[in-house]
Amino acid sequence: MASAKIVIDGKTYEVPIIEGTEGERAIDISKLRAESKVITYDNGFGNTGSCQSAVTFLNGEKGILHYRGYPIEQLAEKSTFVECSYLLNYGELPKKSELRKFDKAIRSSGKIPKGIKDIIDSFPKKAHPMAVCSSSMVALSGFYPELNDVLELDDKKKMSIITQLMGQILTMSTRFYRNSQGKAPRNPKEDLDYCSNFLYMMGMKPDPELAKALDTLLILHADHEQNCSASTARVIGSAHANVFASISGGIDALWGPLHGGANQAVLEMLEQIQKDGGDSKKALQRAKNKEDSFRLMGFGHRVYKNFDPRAKIIKKACDTVLSKLGVKDPLLDIARALEEEALKDPYFVERKLYPNVDFYSGIIYRALGIPTNMFTVMFAIGRLPGWLSQWKEMLEFKGTKIVRPRQIYVGENHRDYLDIKKR
Ligand code: CMC
Repeated sequence: MASAKIVIDGKTYEVPIIEGTEGERAIDISKLRAESKVITYDNGFGNTGSCQSAVTFLNGEKGILHYRGYPIEQLAEKSTFVECSYLLNYGELPKKSELRKFDKAIRSSGKIPKGIKDIIDSFPKKAHPMAVCSSSMVALSGFYPELNDVLELDDKKKMSIITQLMGQILTMSTRFYRNSQGKAPRNPKEDLDYCSNFLYMMGMKPDPELAKALDTLLILHADHEQNCSASTARVIGSAHANVFASISGGIDALWGPLHGGANQAVLEMLEQIQKDGGDSKKALQRAKNKEDSFRLMGFGHRVYKNFDPRAKIIKKACDTVLSKLGVKDPLLDIARALEEEALKDPYFVERKLYPNVDFYSGIIYRALGIPTNMFTVMFAIGRLPGWLSQWKEMLEFKGTKIVRPRQIYVGENHRDYLDIKKR
């Protein structure tokens, strides 16, 4: 096995180098502290591999994204979201009978317990749908206590958790949306495919072309290896907390505007630029100004430093969807102008900042009639099979340990307690 030598205070430590199937190499420092008393420090974990995973491969320099070895471009063109969900969780493309069974199980598990309905119905109309999505997800654990002991879950139970949550997330999120509109919630229909069912429950026409466009978006969001939300789901799961808690934690992490919440933030940014007269150059100036906290939302990525392959597909889909729907959205013109300006601006070029998956997705959601505050829920629906596959892999991997990083303490040294009268 290849190894590396690390010299600390003149003493040499030999550490193994492990190699992945795509040639990526990592220095395995898991025993370094025990031998040298020194830990590694990696702010934001940009240089740290937290696990070994066979689910998703991405190469940020080359703009490559594979689910279980299959390129995202092929999956977006030829597969379906339900098929990709099976692929992510089971490692292989399903045979016809396997897909039929998986799909049927999702279609028939959209019902939610009455208590969950009551919880959702108790939220104020103005609540953010991500708050409801996360809360209802973790609340499910109270209704399925038999699933809470993760070490007791066999393959059949894990499969039924996957299909159950994929069915229920649609019912829970659309129920709250309908409530917020003052309309009666709709129950899922078993004769509708995944995205048509979502559109139906939202109260929209389950048009096959719109459903197909939505399905492609969900495929593009289905997994993205060890991102912030998947890592959160794994961290929670590593303590053997139940699957509902893991997924709910993933939803919470996704909500942040630097992660999945960026799709809502992009739309709001474009609307603001429009309100201010449509001057994209002004927005770019603000994004470059270090005194200003404003960032160009939908731009930049921790891993992609060339282009985001999902953004390429989404940009094309955006043109197709808008022209099919006959929608002319001035926000799309602003987005295009912003992208064009940014891609030739030295600030963005030097920092390798390109449009990411969230830059154009909101324009498609908007054209489909999905309200802005539901955009991140759309991301969560898409990412759910990815979180589940990461959670399942973490649970099934022989060497999984509870995640417990260390720190470099920079606070006060020992001091003695002072009585309140003497302070
Ligand atoms: N606008 C302006 N400057 C930026 C941006 C941006 N969108 N993104 C990064 N930078 C600058 C940043 O200020 C820093 O500059 P400097 O080197 O002078 O200090 C440099 O680029 C490197 O940025 P960073 O924050 O160290 O990079 P990161 O890898 O920690 O952050 C990111 C990645 C996605 C959080 C960041 O690019 C960002 O905030 N983008 C906007 C939010 C967004 O679109 N998020 C969606 C990501 S894709 C969906 C998903 O989460 O999977």
